[in-house]
Amino acid sequence: MTDMQPFGPNIWTMDGDRVRMYGVLPFTTRMTVVRLESGEVWLHSPVRPTPERQRAVDRLGPVAHLVAPNKIHSLGITPWSALYPSATVWASPRFSKRHPDIAVDAVLTSDAEMPWRGEIDHCVIDGHAVLDEVVFLHRPSRTLIVTDVIQKHEAASETWLWRGVKYMAGILGRRGGVPLDVRLSFRDKPALRRSVERVLGWDFDNLIVAHGHCLQDGAKEDVKRAFEWSAAV
Ligand SMILES: [Fe+2]
Repeated sequence: MTDMQPFGPNIWTMDGDRVRMYGVLPFTTRMTVVRLESGEVWLHSPVRPTPERQRAVDRLGPVAHLVAPNKIHSLGITPWSALYPSATVWASPRFSKRHPDIAVDAVLTSDAEMPWRGEIDHCVIDGHAVLDEVVFLHRPSRTLIVTDVIQKHEAASETWLWRGVKYMAGILGRRGGVPLDVRLSFRDKPALRRSVERVLGWDFDNLIVAHGHCLQDGAKEDVKRAFEWSAAV
């Protein structure tokens, strides 16, 4: 039994370790695993590898792509890269500035041509002062893959204190959304809005998030609601 769960056609999620954001705030973590038409495996926001997790991934096919979708989610890149040295490491636009010690093969700019085009689309969420998140659409499963810009932390596993903090931050439960601190630090809202409109133009109905509840069905409306605050600019 591993933490790998099927999510849709050729897409799986794998829960990772619990981590502490800013050293205190408890977060669950999740990796997304896609098997491309080529049979190669694409790992998004890889969690720390263990022999069991590696075996589960190996059963799907050869690991060819490791994706660091923003500059915060760096944890699993180096260890998975050591296990699969021929895999290409893709990173968000500002990742290397924060992690000069982590080898990156290619940057996920909005206009970059990807070897997985036709199956997975990507969009940089522009306009934030710090965060450089890249979101993805897995077309075959109509799934939007988000890392930190939308969070939906499970309430059940939290103490009352952290439930309260996460509720106030707007990231608790299935109706969680854009974290308050992230929301407050967008500097260029028109640029953000252009990114959001592009994402909302994609054909998706499901949502995978790195932290908390994922959605099967209704994801488009949920994402629209999560970014409603940014429409009034
Ligand atoms: Fe995160």
